Amino acid sequence: MTRWLVTGAGGMLGTDMVAALTSCGAHVTGLDRAGLDVTDAAAVTDAIAGGHPDVVVNCAAWTAVDDAEASEEQALAVNAAGAANLAVACAGVGARLVQISTDYVFAGDAGRPYAEDDVPAPRTAYGRTKLAGEQAVLDRLPGSGFVVRTAWLYGAHGPSFVGTMIKLEDRRPTVDVVDDQHGQPTWTADVARQIIALVHSTAAPGIYHATSGGQTTWFGLAREIFTLLGADPARVRPIPSSALSRAAPRPAYSVLGHSAWAGPRVPPIGQWRTALRRAFPELVAAQRTSAPTR
Ligand SMILES: NC(=O)c1ccc[n+]([C@@H]2O[C@H](COP(=O)([O-])OP(=O)(O)OC[C@H]3O[C@@H](n4cnc5c(N)ncnc54)[C@H](OP(=O)(O)O)[C@@H]3O)[C@@H](O)[C@H]2O)c1
Repeated sequence: MTRWLVTGAGGMLGTDMVAALTSCGAHVTGLDRAGLDVTDAAAVTDAIAGGHPDVVVNCAAWTAVDDAEASEEQALAVNAAGAANLAVACAGVGARLVQISTDYVFAGDAGRPYAEDDVPAPRTAYGRTKLAGEQAVLDRLPGSGFVVRTAWLYGAHGPSFVGTMIKLEDRRPTVDVVDDQHGQPTWTADVARQIIALVHSTAAPGIYHATSGGQTTWFGLAREIFTLLGADPARVRPIPSSALSRAAPRPAYSVLGHSAWAGPRVPPIGQWRTALRRAFPELVAAQRTSAPTR
């Protein structure tokens, strides 16, 4: 049986990755940050040499996009050096490594979905550090390194735009949401299942895009959330990105193409609206049990 190791197992994607593997009867070890700090090269070597996994899924990351602008070195330590530590250790035991990455490696100004082999051009510190992580894995593991880029994630086990909107619908008469950023809302549980399918397929190492099909804007997503809550979607009002001040610029266009899945004949993740409907009861339940927001 394939032995899996998931790093960053306490995070939003990491939690669903371990759950998806557990529910399909896989042999999985999940290590949260306290269990394995990926920036600690010796600890990474020990964990991988000791556990001898066949597949490592690296869900550990510095994900604070705005904070990375002032702390790029610290973000780089997790997102690039951490990935490199794992790649070296995986090479030592012959394990495959799945490195999770992001739409932020692209400039975000395209007029068509980004292909897996489009040239990255990150415009943020976070994007630069994630791109360095991709390169660390692909350079060190040319025959067994996988980069899975995702975007616009939501899930039951971490803060997300969807969770925030569910709370705001209950607390505010109206909400203003940007309508000039385009992307693919994606459920962490779908990404986890897609990674399992990838590893179980004949897929060649390299880059894959694990996002939902279709596309919308944050405004479109918020209106869909209000509709699912039985609320009037007109309470969501469109604003331009220029109305918000952020340390890191947000990509205007984050839509990722899914051509690489044709090679191993793995169906891409389905349409975003369908996924949101499936996920919604779990997301609402998670908000009801979570601590109040600011
Ligand atoms: N969320 C999105 O919309 C989105 C979009 C595109 C790509 N991604 C990518 O998807 C992956 C998973 O993100 P997520 O949304 O699940 O983020 P998350 O909830 O922030 O999970 C990241 C986890 O990594 C842990 N971590 C941080 N530094 C670590 C270290 N040095 N060693 C070990 N663990 C460490 C964090 O622990 P602490 O909480 O204790 O710091 C956290 O549990 C990341 O690679 C991210 O870049 C996310």
